[in-house]
Amino acid sequence: MQKKRILLFGANGQLGRSIYVELSPYFYVIPCININKKGAELFENSEISVDISNSNDVQSTFQKFSPDVVINSAAFTNVDQCETDKDTAFKVNVKGLKNLVKFSSKTTHIIQISTDYVFDGEKGDYSEFDPTYPKSYYGKTKLEAENYLRGTDYNWLILRSNVLFGNNLKSNSSFVSWVYNSLKQNKQINVVTDQISNPTWTTAFAQAIRQCIIMKTKGLFHYGSDDKKSRLDFARLIAKTFKLDETLINPILTKDLNQIAIRPFNSDLNSNKIISEIGVQTYTLDYSLKQIKRINFEN
Ligand SMILES: NC(=O)c1ccc[n+]([C@@H]2O[C@H](COP(=O)([O-])OP(=O)(O)OC[C@H]3O[C@@H](n4cnc5c(N)ncnc54)[C@H](OP(=O)(O)O)[C@@H]3O)[C@@H](O)[C@H]2O)c1
Repeated sequence: MQKKRILLFGANGQLGRSIYVELSPYFYVIPCININKKGAELFENSEISVDISNSNDVQSTFQKFSPDVVINSAAFTNVDQCETDKDTAFKVNVKGLKNLVKFSSKTTHIIQISTDYVFDGEKGDYSEFDPTYPKSYYGKTKLEAENYLRGTDYNWLILRSNVLFGNNLKSNSSFVSWVYNSLKQNKQINVVTDQISNPTWTTAFAQAIRQCIIMKTKGLFHYGSDDKKSRLDFARLIAKTFKLDETLINPILTKDLNQIAIRPFNSDLNSNKIISEIGVQTYTLDYSLKQIKRINFEN
């Protein structure tokens, strides 16, 4: 049987890289990246450069590859910049998805990655049935993309997750790698006590996505880790796992950061629906961090 053909947008992002690694042994995954990094040989399958906000780019990519599955992990993810550059945020996060839908067929499995930022963060333990109320422009664009997709009669799946962290400790692309690198260099860091979430290991999330593809899952689902923690407690767990000095972590409040965008305070996602209906595995933060340690230092 021929392998399913998957167009993966945002392949070079934090989550995209894990999706590529977890899906490639099973499917024919075509990695699509934003900026042309020719010669970098980032992926085993040669990557293609596509700006999802550019309709012509998207059209020619779909014509060339006729995908069975489209995964949209591409997004303008800098939450503060989304407030100051609303045009780009809308173009990438809303128009980008619309372009992917426009050139998909009704049988294409369209998988849209979304976020806890669609909630206001007043309640926590959010299920798929809870009302949305984004506080930031980033959250608004992600919700508008969701609503657009839900209003189509296409074959769609929306997966919401929160505070993603990948295996790469070398760049400060996630909260985990930022805490790790700062403490490793004996730098003091300020970490908020009043933002609570259940951060998600990208490898685990990518495995859940793989299972959803196999089961042709449709609808809206949440996926997060088993542990609800404040950023401060998460930072302390990172320090403990990597045997770093946790006294370098200073507790502060969100208001002290003077960030441009409003953050949800309590936005942990309830994963019960995806566990019971699809049978995916979720993990504790302790397990996820130990796996990252093993991948980076024990291979
Ligand atoms: N990070 C989190 O904590 C978090 C939490 C919940 C949900 N999510 C969602 O998860 C998904 C993946 O996030 P992530 O953490 O992997 O973010 P990321 O590392 O910023 O990856 C996003 C990718 O999208 C690409 N991209 C940006 N604009 C594009 C465009 N116009 N055309 C094509 N590609 C474009 C970026 O490329 P360049 O870097 O080259 O511009 C980047 O590789 C997003 O949908 C995000 O909203 C993230």
